[in-house]
Amino acid sequence: MTAKSNASTYKFFINGEWRESKSGQTVDIVSPYLRTSVGQVQAITQEEVDEAIKSAQVAQKEWAQTSLQDRASYLYKWADNLLDMQEVIAEIIMKEVGKGFQDAKKEVVRTADFIRYSIEEALHMHGESMMGDSFPGGSKSKLAIVSRVPLGVILAISPFNYPVNLAAAKLAPALMAGNAVVFKPATNGAISGTKMVEALAKAELPKGLISLVTGRGSVIGDYLVEHKGINMISFTGGTKTGTHIANKATKIPLVLELGGKDPAIVREDADLQDAAKHIISGAFSYSGQRCTAIKRVLVNEKVADELVPLLKAEIEKLSVGSPEKDSVIVPLIDDKSADFVQGLVDDAVDKGATVVLGNKREDNLIYPTLLDHVTGDMQVAWEEPFGPILPIIRVSSDEEAIDITNESEFGLQASVFTKDINKAFNLANVIDAGSVQINGRTERGPDHFPFIGVKGSGMGVQGVRKSIESMTREKVTVLNIGE
Ligand code: NAP
Ligand code: G3H
Repeated sequence: MTAKSNASTYKFFINGEWRESKSGQTVDIVSPYLRTSVGQVQAITQEEVDEAIKSAQVAQKEWAQTSLQDRASYLYKWADNLLDMQEVIAEIIMKEVGKGFQDAKKEVVRTADFIRYSIEEALHMHGESMMGDSFPGGSKSKLAIVSRVPLGVILAISPFNYPVNLAAAKLAPALMAGNAVVFKPATNGAISGTKMVEALAKAELPKGLISLVTGRGSVIGDYLVEHKGINMISFTGGTKTGTHIANKATKIPLVLELGGKDPAIVREDADLQDAAKHIISGAFSYSGQRCTAIKRVLVNEKVADELVPLLKAEIEKLSVGSPEKDSVIVPLIDDKSADFVQGLVDDAVDKGATVVLGNKREDNLIYPTLLDHVTGDMQVAWEEPFGPILPIIRVSSDEEAIDITNESEFGLQASVFTKDINKAFNLANVIDAGSVQINGRTERGPDHFPFIGVKGSGMGVQGVRKSIESMTREKVTVLNIGE
């Protein structure tokens, strides 16, 4: 059985079978740059969601008893299959979410690496034992064996911008930890997600362990999130959706990786040339459609006039156009997103920001835009654009940069550019964010580092080991040793 019904319609995956939905309905997926349909996925029903969760519950019971080495062998095959399919999958990622072909291929390779690292990490995670006599009044006759056990059925919900990588980054740790997974891909990204599941299905994973449930989040999302058969949710996406999910889900663990407004703080003693390179690559790759993109520059006013032309020169090197030509600046995921980004630029310009470069648009293609003299009354100082625009806020001191950084509703990452390592650490200590990068761009990888969003940027931790831990719980077995 295959994942396709016909030339452009894809099936969903449930209990080891590729199926068409009984709803008889599909969701059309429109390419952001071709602006035509690239295929349809099934709009599945609530009964089919029930069935997916039921089959996951059954399969998980046996999987939890399967040895780690056996689990590993399935997942190694999955990684190999992804690499064998990398050209095909990259082509689909490119068409479906408008990511440059080479970057799409890198996403697939990064995913295979992530799966392998997850396998190896899980194989090397060991429990601990504790003797009772270390506590006052305790006795050597008690021995606690602390091990990690799976949570059950994990609901994995992924965003459009890394449709393979950010999905597998949930599936691999969940499966290695002994869980089953119900996977809901983003609508733009669902075909890429289907191919990723096809690679896993080809590894002959026991049926029911993974289900692919497709359909619009606005239609099936709440039903999935509130379902009593789900034991944990791992979600990556926008802050609004994440907050909605957190309000709906009851009494189950949640890991939420959400939006960001990562600042690049440029001190007066920074290597400005180097900072400019990092800032522009951080801000504009994949048109700024990365949660970790640098989304504002907080530069000391003493060096601002020197930094701005350096930023402008770096932006002028960026290619603009089609993902088929590996352009850095590509059309945004849809017109609505482009309207939003344009609205932020218009608001800033109306309120007195200077356009250093850009402010040009063709449909959903927004040219890279650099805005100077941005102030706190402008929306672009605070909102996440998820597009290729970079506001510069001039500050008079480190303290002002920190105040503006921490006033944000978000707290994903921040970059600090300085030659003074002591200052860098002092600033890192007071920045309210999951990670602070010193003299480098904000980014998630390498993927075994803990990846954390605080405040509106999320809750819980991802990164290989942390994801495995979040999808398991500790269990204590106490041996009472007789005399
Ligand atoms: P999104 O609109 O929030 O969608 C994310 C996922 O949630 C999609 O699969 C979506 O399905 C689903 N969804 C929508 N409504 C739902 C509901 N009621 N219940 C359950 N699921 C629902 O985000 P996006 O536009 O795909 O991605 C961009 C955002 O994600 C940005 O804000 C970005 O910063 C953030 N992001 C964060 C990280 C991180 O690690 N911190 C990584 C990547 C992206 P549909 O597509 O069918 O609506
Ligand atoms: O979009 C959010 C991703 O987690 C960012 O990953 O920093 O590797 O691009 P990245």
